[in-house]
Amino acid sequence: MGRLKMKMPTAIVLAAGLGTRMKSSLAKVLHPLCGAPLINWTIKAVKEAGVKKFVIVVGYQKDEVEKAISKSFPRLKPIFVHQTKQLGTAHAVLVTENAFKDRDDDVLIICGDVPLVTPKSLKGFIKFHANKKADLSIITGNLDVPLGYGRILRDENGRAQKIVEETEATDEIKKLKEVNLGVYLISSKLLFKYLKKIKRNNKKGEFFITDLVELLAKDKKRVEAFVSDEPFEFLGINTRWQLACAQKLLQQKVLEKFAQEGVTFIDPERAYVEPTAKIANDVVIWPDVVIKGKTKIAKDCEIGQGSIIIDSVLDEGVKIFPYSVIEGSHIERGAKVGPFARIRPKSLLKEKADIGNFVEIKNSTIGVCTKARHLSYLGDSIIGDRVNIGAGTITCNYDGFSKYQTIIEDEAFIGSDTQFVAPVKIGKGAYIGSGSTITKDVPSDALAVTRAEQKIFEGWARRKREQAKGKKQG
Ligand code: UD1
Ligand code: CA
Repeated sequence: MGRLKMKMPTAIVLAAGLGTRMKSSLAKVLHPLCGAPLINWTIKAVKEAGVKKFVIVVGYQKDEVEKAISKSFPRLKPIFVHQTKQLGTAHAVLVTENAFKDRDDDVLIICGDVPLVTPKSLKGFIKFHANKKADLSIITGNLDVPLGYGRILRDENGRAQKIVEETEATDEIKKLKEVNLGVYLISSKLLFKYLKKIKRNNKKGEFFITDLVELLAKDKKRVEAFVSDEPFEFLGINTRWQLACAQKLLQQKVLEKFAQEGVTFIDPERAYVEPTAKIANDVVIWPDVVIKGKTKIAKDCEIGQGSIIIDSVLDEGVKIFPYSVIEGSHIERGAKVGPFARIRPKSLLKEKADIGNFVEIKNSTIGVCTKARHLSYLGDSIIGDRVNIGAGTITCNYDGFSKYQTIIEDEAFIGSDTQFVAPVKIGKGAYIGSGSTITKDVPSDALAVTRAEQKIFEGWARRKREQAKGKKQG
């Protein structure tokens, strides 16, 4: 048999519905799944199967849906078609007719709510359609729990004859395990000719695309069912529970891919990592870690239990101790953070910086080998190399109106419980006595201390005790 030249279809992605069963004010296809809108996953798979042209049917929250797709796939340039009233899946496809004017493309119709679908399966389906020389191909699967799906009726020769929706099915039909997985391939000419014959004579009063099967079969057109051996890939998300299950399945796939590249997960059931992250080999990830966005983690880092890392860069050998939160920051080689530290956006921790428990850093540079190990707030500051920041150091960077900068130069020593009333600058090697409130610049190598003089009252405490005792007895 000669090689069949594969004709790549145009995709129609259905994404106009509200998704009533989600019980949400957010359009179903915008619900996030592993960090990206639900619809992105379907589009990504179809694209990776080789499809170039996309027609996307939008309706409910159409502007938001269009914006989300254009942002995620800037080069896709799909044709968006507006379905003003959601009258059913057949109607949703029918409104795209203008996009196919004067053309006879093959059309792959897929719902925007099947995020687990893989390019491999779709490629197989496209090939199947060509090999079978089918007029209409559909993807079906056998499910132990077929609840909610349309059921496939086959004739005595085993040909797909009709799809019956769950809402229309008799108890007998409901027992059938072969279901419609919601993906169709057909030429645009046939598609629009037959769509117009579909009526809304069902309990929901909707135009069902699934009626195409019966209409074409009756006209002796070739209808072929591609039975998927991975029906779970076509899990349609209609409810929050299905979304949660899909999240789990997808997350497992994502973690598995990272693991294949050399990342250690202490507990693969308890890590949330978005696929947009880049993680090098020999990184160890403890349970309950969350890694989001464009985070990049280099070799030999360790991410302690319960830590959250968002849009940040960690260079080699960084150690994040448990329950730390890091966002929009860069942490250089060998630095340590946590436990219980918070690194807010626009911070740079230079090599071997050491940020300990209950320390918050915001929009600051922390120099090489500089330590701030306990209970501090460092905001809008530039801190040099080998500086020691004592426990309880606070930059008072905000006067209720504006933010001001604190500069601390190399090798300065900051005693515990110091407040820096910004703007203020501490020179190289200067020494700040504990408990100081620093309001003026401190020159290099100087000592600054602002502290009330200590007074001693001999025997005061004993007298107080005796007084109290006397009162109680009297
Ligand atoms: C559909 C199929 C069912 C199949 C299942 C597979 C129909 C009638 N039924 O059911 O046989 O087993 O998918 O997952 O097609 N949409 C629009 N405009 C509309 C209606 C729907 O764009 O007017 C979009 C939705 O946003 C959604 C998709 O079409 O992405 C499917 O609609 P949905 O209501 O989820 O269909 P199911 O009941 O799941
Ligand atoms: Ca669905």
